Amino acid sequence: MSEKRIVLTGFMGVGKSTVARRLARLLGTNRVDLDHYIERSERRKIAEIIETDGLEKYREIESRNLEHLLENDIPPILSLGGGTWTVKHNRVRIKEKGFTSIWLESSFEHCWYNIKFSKKERPLAKDKAAAQKLFEDRQKVYCLADWHFIVRPDQTSVQVAEQIMSEVFL
Ligand code: S3P
Repeated sequence: MSEKRIVLTGFMGVGKSTVARRLARLLGTNRVDLDHYIERSERRKIAEIIETDGLEKYREIESRNLEHLLENDIPPILSLGGGTWTVKHNRVRIKEKGFTSIWLESSFEHCWYNIKFSKKERPLAKDKAAAQKLFEDRQKVYCLADWHFIVRPDQTSVQVAEQIMSEVFL
């Protein structure tokens, strides 16, 4: 078993948590999803935090929770929220802690399709044009990740996880 530690980043709806779950299963290890961790520790839904406290405050809460995870003995696979990697301090801390970062990229339309059919409430994806702008603006930071995988709409999460496993976990 590899000692490699992985974070998955990428836009909302690309499938970070599902791929993380599949990858953990293939590697026989555990994983944690930052959004779920935040909701458990804050005892509130992320949508509620963003809507009542605002995005700036949410980013502080997100960074604090990320820090807490990184400082403790967390599972080797971590899926981030779509905005976590856009904060420089978060990227620095993730690297300092020895995590390999993977950007999962798909077309905006594919992400939007998944967003629309998901039960997860996403305050930053209420309006398609605004979400598309966010998608385009974020490409320049997502590409700072160590690895880049394109997720095709016809690929299953297991196939993506297998591809990551064969290329990253050589
Ligand atoms: C966000 C993405 C969401 C969640 C929050 C903000 C973003 O996670 O963290 O709503 O800024 O892109 P997912 O990428 O898992 O949807």
